Amino acid sequence: MKKTLMLVAALMMTGTLVYAASADKGKALFESPTLGGGTTGKTCNTCHEDGKGLGSDLFERKQFTIMGMEKKSLAEVINICIEKPLGGVAIDPQGQEMQDLTAYMKTLTDKPAPKKARQAIEGC
Ligand code: HEC
Repeated sequence: MKKTLMLVAALMMTGTLVYAASADKGKALFESPTLGGGTTGKTCNTCHEDGKGLGSDLFERKQFTIMGMEKKSLAEVINICIEKPLGGVAIDPQGQEMQDLTAYMKTLTDKPAPKKARQAIEGC
């Protein structure tokens, strides 16, 4: 009984982690003009295609400055971009949409730098 209660409590605490974040769903959100009820017709992809403007250290940073505002979490930064350029309403920072969105954004910032073309070896 006690164990069951603890399990339920643990599930409640980690509720948002029960469903794995989906980068595929996140990509759809990133390209959706209605994310957060957006009203300007813009999507994240309009300005950040292929991760443009997203620092490669985005997921390591603990402090963000966006449009002159200091923010402590990536979710807050994302919500500013939802409210301002998309003209929408902030989404739940812990919610599934935010998790999917950041899972996709991670694939953008994790992209390895383009490899240099293999150099021809002289004499071969
Ligand atoms: C109209 C263009 C535009 C759109 C649309 C837009 N952004 Fe941005 N975004 C910016 C600009 C400009 C900055 C940099 C602001 C600054 O430096 O103060 C930025 C910054 C960011 C940053 C911080 C990057 C860093 O490395 O510090 C994140 C994260 C971000 N945007 C996510 C998003 C997401 C997610 C969406 C979709 C909901 C989105 N943006 C939509 C223009 C846009």
